[in-house]
Amino acid sequence: MKGIVLAGGSGTRLHPVTLPMSKQLLPVYDKPMVYYPLSVLMLAGIRDVLVVSTPATVPALRVLLGDGSALGLDISYAEQREPRGIADAFLVGERFVDGEECALILGDNLFDGPDLPGLLAEARRRVDGCVLFGYEVDDPRRYAVGELDERGNLLSLEEKPARPRSRRAVTGLYLYNKEVVDIAKEVRPSARGELEITDVNRVYLAEGKASLVSMGSEYQWCDTGTCDSLLAAAEYVREAQRSNGRRIACIEETALRMGFVDAETCYKRGLEMRHSEYGRYVMDVARSWSDSRQR
Ligand code: TTP
Repeated sequence: MKGIVLAGGSGTRLHPVTLPMSKQLLPVYDKPMVYYPLSVLMLAGIRDVLVVSTPATVPALRVLLGDGSALGLDISYAEQREPRGIADAFLVGERFVDGEECALILGDNLFDGPDLPGLLAEARRRVDGCVLFGYEVDDPRRYAVGELDERGNLLSLEEKPARPRSRRAVTGLYLYNKEVVDIAKEVRPSARGELEITDVNRVYLAEGKASLVSMGSEYQWCDTGTCDSLLAAAEYVREAQRSNGRRIACIEETALRMGFVDAETCYKRGLEMRHSEYGRYVMDVARSWSDSRQR
């Protein structure tokens, strides 16, 4: 399976901060926002990644992530010239997807929880159409909302409904089968001129090929598109890391634990950042990893 990180957009809710560049380069506590969605793709075992962003931001993302080899990934980049909607990722990325299964994750989404690798592996086994991930929120009217029957089958998908049928928001992580590019090409722009991902998901739903995995309250999901949600996400990350000593979305550690790189490669990457606590953490992780292997 391939993976796309959609890391452009207008970022109008964060103006003026996002006037010169997209929000996905902003820090969420100790690392750039884009690390969080990228780490989720990695935890799903995905190594072939396309990062889509604005023409102004792609060069900076390239500096940050390079060709991915330091993380055992193959990262390529594509420009989305105008923010034409989330489903436009599949038109921009058509050549990259190349008729394979593909995951899409929004560049401002943060996921955390006790067993993301297990949850993602289970979901990957179920991709015979599309797999969405639902999370209960206080105000579902701000999101796409999924309704399930008592057996967990997906009944309906509504975009920002005035009267939501459930509190289950559809998060910004989507897994698709090989048909996704063809389906995205058929979708017409919405009233606001965007290709809506909910319209793509509705095509799968109409074919009986959409499912929704519920993420319980032991998981954390948030997007970071406003000043308050960005700050709340940073506070969450600081507290969670302080209480369990492990960093969330440390892509170098994820690469090591997933077996994408060896301890030496991980250590080198930490060494380049040794003046930060983050860099020293990466070095420590690599050191204890190779110590434990030698024992
Ligand atoms: P949004 O947060 O819905 O939109 P936005 O980033 O343009 O922000 P604002 O509402 O403040 O103007 O987008 C969700 C994610 O998808 C975010 O990471 C940006 C990304 N995105 C694109 O890369 N291209 C697009 O065309 C759209 C609509 C979103």
